[in-house]
Amino acid sequence: MPQVTECHDGLQPFSDPSVEVQAQWTLNNLVLKLMARTTQPFDQRPKDLGTLAVVEDPHLAEYMMRNPAIFQKNFALVAALGKSRFNLNGEQWELFRNRTQPSYNKASRKTERANIAAHYDRAVEAFDPGDMDSVEPLLSNAAMSVFVDALGISPDINQIVDLFPQVRIHAKMLQYFSWSGVREPEVLAKRANWLDQRFNAIFMDDPLSRDFVREAIGGTHPEEWHPAITDLMQNAFAGTETTVATLCWAVRLMGQNRTLQNQLRTEARLGEADTPLLRSFMFEVMRCIPPIPFVVRETKQAYDGNGVSYPAGQQIILSIIGLHKNPNAWSNPNQFHAARPEFAPSASTPKAYRPFLSGPRVCGGKRLAELEMMSAMTAILRKWRFSTKVPDVDFEYALAMRPASFAGVSIEAV
Ligand code: HEM
Repeated sequence: MPQVTECHDGLQPFSDPSVEVQAQWTLNNLVLKLMARTTQPFDQRPKDLGTLAVVEDPHLAEYMMRNPAIFQKNFALVAALGKSRFNLNGEQWELFRNRTQPSYNKASRKTERANIAAHYDRAVEAFDPGDMDSVEPLLSNAAMSVFVDALGISPDINQIVDLFPQVRIHAKMLQYFSWSGVREPEVLAKRANWLDQRFNAIFMDDPLSRDFVREAIGGTHPEEWHPAITDLMQNAFAGTETTVATLCWAVRLMGQNRTLQNQLRTEARLGEADTPLLRSFMFEVMRCIPPIPFVVRETKQAYDGNGVSYPAGQQIILSIIGLHKNPNAWSNPNQFHAARPEFAPSASTPKAYRPFLSGPRVCGGKRLAELEMMSAMTAILRKWRFSTKVPDVDFEYALAMRPASFAGVSIEAV
């Protein structure tokens, strides 16, 4: 058996390095399967993918989202990730939610727009036309600045963002193992511990983060703070990874269509208050490429209704991709249409559009993310022009679906 050695500057390696490749392949493949289903006639699709039931009917999906007491978060994730508002249920979830939600609500007020825009203006100013790979880290930095401002804390943002590639890998492995069975649990535990210690050190180094955590848990003992920091870390990652992924897709898609890009730029120059095409474009980006392509739920008790029958403990994939491409809900669902009539300002948002979910477990940062993305896109469009001749792009799915690279995209000042 190969020796596992301590690794101080990154995640502990698995003795079988191919397991990480398998994980990426399996997760990407799951997303591809969910995408492929959308091209089959709706009533001919199988109701499951192996042991996982699949839901892509808007009516049933809405029922699931509105009834988290029946369709709950999977407890296995709590053990793997540590407690957070993302994976808890019931009263414990409410407790954790109340620690961060008031801050997100306050940060998404229109009065905060200028502050949010200033972070993105700075990031966009620093894009390097010779290096498209500078774009994602700079956007991550801006998103993280917005996040820490929202909570009124000031940890070292660069240190947090630098850890994200490792968090991505860890999130990917946990998700993969939750279906395939855990391999090398001692390595996994060391990896979790490594990340945990780093985040703990970064947040504990910041007096404002310490105040936030002390207030959030209502306790004074540093040993009680640890779960609150785990929750903070998961909020930081989920809140920025999704927003930045969406912006990266938007940049890629704009690069494919110069005419559309020019129309969006004309709107962006007019000001943020009235940008219906940009709003519709961003909705369409998230409809076609939902940053979180699916969520997993588990039935707490047997469920019989809405045309399905599940035993207690049934794992269910709620396919956001499936909802977003449902042929009964959308005209030409598999076509990208920036000015889609379903997203016209006068139309009410379809129930089959749920990039942030809905109901009690709706994304806590939905309004903040929307505000942020409009500010970011306005800043980007005013300053830069993108072009690419590469129509299809590999994606990488860990927690969010990101473009695998910016290869083939070029950038020039407007
Ligand atoms: C485009 C950007 C975003 C998208 C598409 C998105 C999407 C989602 C989705 C689908 C969920 C539900 C996950 C599940 O229940 O399994 C979720 C949950 C959550 N998101 Fe977001 N998100 C985005 C941005 C943000 C931002 C900016 C923040 C905060 C700064 C944030 C904070 C949260 C929180 C706290 C939850 C957990 C809600 C709960 O169960 O209490 N998100 N998000």
